[in-house]
Amino acid sequence: MNLYKYVSDEINEKLGMTVNLETPRNREFGDFATNAAMVMAKSVGKNPRELAGDIAAKIAELPFVVDTSVAGPGFINIRLNDDFIWNMASCATQINPTDTPMTIDLDYGAYNVAKSLHIGHMRTSIVGDTFNRIAKFLGHRALSWNHMGDWGKPMALVIAWIERMHPELGYFRDDFDPETPVKFDIDPTELNSYYPAASALAKQDPEFQAHAQQIKAAFQKGHTGYHALYEKFLAVSLKMMSDTVQRLNIMPFDYDMGERNAAQYLPTVEKILRDKNLIVDSDGAQVIVVRRDSDTAPMPPYMWTDSRGADTYDSTDLAAVYCRVKTDNPDKMIYFTDQRQSLHFEQLFRASDMAGLFPYDQFEHIGYGTINGADGRPFKTRDGNAAGLDDIIDAVGTAVERRITESGKCLGRDTIDMIALAALKFNDLMHDIRSDYIFDPDAVTSFEGRTGPYILYTAVRLNSILRRVAGTATDMPAPDHLSCDERNLMIEIADFERTIRAAFDNRAPDMVANYAYDLCQLVNTFYHNCPILRDDVSPDDRARRLAIVSMAAKTLATAIDLMGLRVPDEM
Ligand code: ARG
Repeated sequence: MNLYKYVSDEINEKLGMTVNLETPRNREFGDFATNAAMVMAKSVGKNPRELAGDIAAKIAELPFVVDTSVAGPGFINIRLNDDFIWNMASCATQINPTDTPMTIDLDYGAYNVAKSLHIGHMRTSIVGDTFNRIAKFLGHRALSWNHMGDWGKPMALVIAWIERMHPELGYFRDDFDPETPVKFDIDPTELNSYYPAASALAKQDPEFQAHAQQIKAAFQKGHTGYHALYEKFLAVSLKMMSDTVQRLNIMPFDYDMGERNAAQYLPTVEKILRDKNLIVDSDGAQVIVVRRDSDTAPMPPYMWTDSRGADTYDSTDLAAVYCRVKTDNPDKMIYFTDQRQSLHFEQLFRASDMAGLFPYDQFEHIGYGTINGADGRPFKTRDGNAAGLDDIIDAVGTAVERRITESGKCLGRDTIDMIALAALKFNDLMHDIRSDYIFDPDAVTSFEGRTGPYILYTAVRLNSILRRVAGTATDMPAPDHLSCDERNLMIEIADFERTIRAAFDNRAPDMVANYAYDLCQLVNTFYHNCPILRDDVSPDDRARRLAIVSMAAKTLATAIDLMGLRVPDEM
């Protein structure tokens, strides 16, 4: 149930107009407030305080309002009935599916074949997956596309490198027969070293570089041997991707289909573009001019093929749009990548719109900021390379282990992994997507403050109370009275639905993370001030507080699920 919407709709109906309703952080004077009287005073020719008095009296007639008051120059404070809050909080996580369900294609992850996942893939994975969960939770049909980088020069370099090491393999012959099995196994760790080694060599050795170019052209034209070899390392690569992604507790992708899959639609899309005269020659390259007269910033043309005639990141992205429309017929396509790709996506959206593939205003690019180290510069390993995603997960795990040892506790591997997962993901989610943030494995694993471990700790605390009273009913009708701490917590619980909807509407998963944190703080204040199982607690107080614990536990668990965290039994 959406508390805010309910209260707002009822007040608007009562007053016969739309008022602006706020939820003050400090609830001393009321649970909601409105400046409606101050906004309207002039147009109705009344003194704002006087008008506020009239409006406040009307609002006070609503059955769920206990009282209203006027403050300052004409603010109206509104206090809700305790039993109303109770009833709203009891069904906080029961959410009606949206009445405007959409099919949404989500492009995130988008890892590169034969290159291990690195820090640049962290936010796209975590934020994309959480957004997917939120969209599904609200009743949308969300589909995830892992648009793998598997068609360009890196593939050619890897093939060239394998050829250099094993020239005898049949794959490199032009008359390669795909029916002939080739005895050749690829070791996953070794595979990760091929691309960096080949790319370094290509920089020094023009002959190797030229050969890789030829391989790229032949590969893209369908060379059977190269494709057979590619299939071999693709399988190894996919397995590695999925291992890392599983460590992050990311849901499986609906489609692991990248640039190579998209490439099969290139001829069809090219025909569409040519029929509309959208492809022009530019110094040997084939391009689509996407500039508009109104542009003030530079808007280079979109590359259909480069000057060597090869497919590009641009063309395969356009072909992928075509493929997605055919496959899912989505209402929206949303891409989660580093902000630095925003020009590419602006071009893609324009080109797609011009070609009539998918309308410009149904696309969205969510560009995230950079993850920096403690020095404020992009987080790198000691040797100056982009940190591997597995290494980052390991580093957080080690930091958790150290803390636990220091505190004298003894927790199992699974628990440590869950804490590390929460530390890493929560820290990623709580920041505004668009801003940069500093990543410090030690800070994110603290059990206090705005951290994943703090969220888990609170959930574990709630669950352990409920476990201790297992078998006792924890739901009850609205009680006569709530204490201040109880009330504050219940209002926050009742604010769950509004938060999740706002997180979706604003494409802001950080709202879910920060909501979880606020909720935990109120839970812990409540826990501190309102004893539950102590002997001197009256049966009424105990029953009421247990019911509150149960509502809080359910709401927090739902938020935790949306972030893709896992809760251990003990901490
Ligand atoms: N593979 C690219 C990278 O690692 C990201 C691809 C993003 N998605 C897309 N449709 N272009 O940078």
